[in-house]
Amino acid sequence: MTFKKKIASIIRYCPPLFKFGSKLYHKINGGFKSLSPGAPAAIEWAMEKTAEIHPDKGLGDYYEFGLYKGYTFLTAYRAAEKHGLTNKRFFGFDSFQGLPQVEGPDKTGGHFFEGQFACTKSEVKNNLLKHGVDFERIRLVKGFYKDSLTHDLKKELGKRPAGVVFLDCDLYSSTKSALEWLEGLIHANSIVIFDDWHSFTEGKNLGQQLALKEFLERNPSLVFEPVFDYDDNGRAFIVTKK
Ligand SMILES: C[S@@+](CC[C@H](N)C(=O)[O-])C[C@H]1O[C@@H](n2cnc3c(N)ncnc32)[C@H](O)[C@@H]1O
Repeated sequence: MTFKKKIASIIRYCPPLFKFGSKLYHKINGGFKSLSPGAPAAIEWAMEKTAEIHPDKGLGDYYEFGLYKGYTFLTAYRAAEKHGLTNKRFFGFDSFQGLPQVEGPDKTGGHFFEGQFACTKSEVKNNLLKHGVDFERIRLVKGFYKDSLTHDLKKELGKRPAGVVFLDCDLYSSTKSALEWLEGLIHANSIVIFDDWHSFTEGKNLGQQLALKEFLERNPSLVFEPVFDYDDNGRAFIVTKK
């Protein structure tokens, strides 16, 4: 366990101290790296696998829910280029003001608070531009998912099938909204990565595990085959059909 994680695991039992410590850490730490050290490798694997499954250079686009400073989004863009997936488009969804209010099941067994991981859209855009991404192939959608993920948006974005989905939005409520919106876009051979699979201590009936359970109840013909876990929290799946 890193020093940072050790401190976090001690102070998380005192929410006001955890909130203060987390805000201070993110203010002082101007770094651009991902919050999950294993996430970039998981995304790179997903792009490599996509290129392998679809030798026609990859059916499906990249959808990321939860960008923070944009590092994982940049990782996906670069990995796609590396594997020749130049026809892919990249969609990023974030409030650009941090987490929404934490309510309902998200209040149990987690360590999240409203406003956590706030980073403005212009800061994310600058981070991506500095690294030479082509904004013709990118669309960043601002807003809390319950407001931004509409039917009209889905139509506007062209209902393009999902090749790789990266769900790094921490909460059950956020993941539920994202998965509901993705219905019809996730198909056999989509790769779906949950960065917060184990973020809630009670497991199956909370967090991202609960959101996927409900998604599968609504979409019984899809199967999510686990491929690997990474860091303490992440899990990657390949989707198949029954
Ligand atoms: C842990 S951070 C993402 C970290 C980033 N992928 C990385 O590895 O550096 C979580 C992000 O999810 C966003 N988020 C979570 N729930 C959301 C919601 N309901 N609507 C919009 N954005 C949300 C937050 O604003 C935050 O930027």
